[in-house]
Amino acid sequence: MKNILFVASECVPFVKTGGLADVVGTLPKMFNKDEYDCRVIIPNYRCIPDKFRNEFQYVHHFYMDMGERFNSVHVGIMEYEYEGIKFYFVDNLFYFGGDKPYADTRYDIEKFIYFSKAVMAILPVINFRPDIIHCHDWQAGLVPVYLHTLYKDNPFYSGVKTIFTIHNLRFQGIWDIKTIRSLSGLPEYVFTPDKLEYKKDANMLKGGLVYADYITTVSDTYAGEIQSGYFGEGLDGLLRARNQSLCGIVNGIDYDAYNPETDENLAKKYSVRTFKKAKAANKAALQSELGLDRDDNRFVISIISRLTDQKGLDLVRYALDRICDEFTQFVVLGTGDGQYENLFRDYAWRMPGKVSANILFNEGFAHRVYAGSDAVLVPSLFEPCGLTQLIGLRYGTVPVVRETGGLKDTVAPYNEYDGTGIGFSFANYNGEELLATINYAKKVFFENRAEWDRMVARGMKTDYSWAGSALKYQDLYNRVLGW
Ligand code: GLC
Repeated sequence: MKNILFVASECVPFVKTGGLADVVGTLPKMFNKDEYDCRVIIPNYRCIPDKFRNEFQYVHHFYMDMGERFNSVHVGIMEYEYEGIKFYFVDNLFYFGGDKPYADTRYDIEKFIYFSKAVMAILPVINFRPDIIHCHDWQAGLVPVYLHTLYKDNPFYSGVKTIFTIHNLRFQGIWDIKTIRSLSGLPEYVFTPDKLEYKKDANMLKGGLVYADYITTVSDTYAGEIQSGYFGEGLDGLLRARNQSLCGIVNGIDYDAYNPETDENLAKKYSVRTFKKAKAANKAALQSELGLDRDDNRFVISIISRLTDQKGLDLVRYALDRICDEFTQFVVLGTGDGQYENLFRDYAWRMPGKVSANILFNEGFAHRVYAGSDAVLVPSLFEPCGLTQLIGLRYGTVPVVRETGGLKDTVAPYNEYDGTGIGFSFANYNGEELLATINYAKKVFFENRAEWDRMVARGMKTDYSWAGSALKYQDLYNRVLGW
């Protein structure tokens, strides 16, 4: 039996701000249980719903050193088994008592220094010695660093390997060296330019990338992109240097949670055989729910996303007047930067019946938007993997994407000459290209509905479940353990 521990800052169904949570909550379920004991550890945020928190079992608590504070920082351990996986929750109300998982940067830095150290300290207490600690994003960046410094002579951790998965290189956990050094208690020699130092500051993600045995990211294309200056976020040199221990493994989606055949949220369930009528029924229901004009003969295109500049919303802003013509309805679902929230609110107010802005997030509602839309728009500036296009495909909703990162790897573009492809895509970060691509999609939708429906069917049949990717992670685990 191989022991694997996932370390992350969020995880469905407990706490989610983005795709990271879906991956961390789903992938552990996909491993062969006879061979892998895969467990997950995240913070015990006060904002995890009570229906879960009330079920958590208290395991133990102790006091830990943290930087200059000796033996005085509380670490509680809670445990909960969910869908066959053991989850641990690090308890500390001072750090995790807020009403959302992240707050201002300085506080988050301290919070996740604490979290990384606590994860290390907890392992002997729960008597779980991982063969591999699989760390996700900057919040877990210091785990490999601690393993190779403060914990390196402790026999309990000897031979433990680490894998670091980058879900988004943009967020790195950067603060001044003095602060990070005194909070973390890490030795001075790690704060050099070949280790944590980054433009005179300390960078927690960089620590993870330097000290992990292996680095992965969430698509092949993104694995290549981050080795270039444009996508490298200042770390492309390091990633090129680690090129031999870096690969991309594309994410899947949870085929049970996202299944139009069994989805209780929908007005009408459907499969690849029944989608034509059922999607029309779901579209009508969605139009009523959102107060849009009830008309089957409109092209409904949706954005379901965190509303940040990563997501290509500047292109949308540029083209939105022309996207929203008399044949089209435009739906937004998500929260994020005020400038984008207000942009969509403004359009919804100016174009009632045509534009619907839902500045919120609600999982069941999201499923209805997927089911009721003809297309889902993902024009990202960069996209490590992207999950919305995969969910769209599963729900027979054609993705319109920009060819970057995982979007490029998962959405084969429609080719009208040989009748292949499952979506529409464009190459450059340019509003006219976005508009032309949407217009091309509309042309096929309105003028050649049979072709459109065949494309929908091809998309629904493409397998983006976790099965294939989980096998790739298993291979990687075995490879790393063989070193
Ligand atoms: C981040 C990335 C997204 C990816 C997700 C899960 O949210 O921005 O592209 O799909 O992580 O890996």
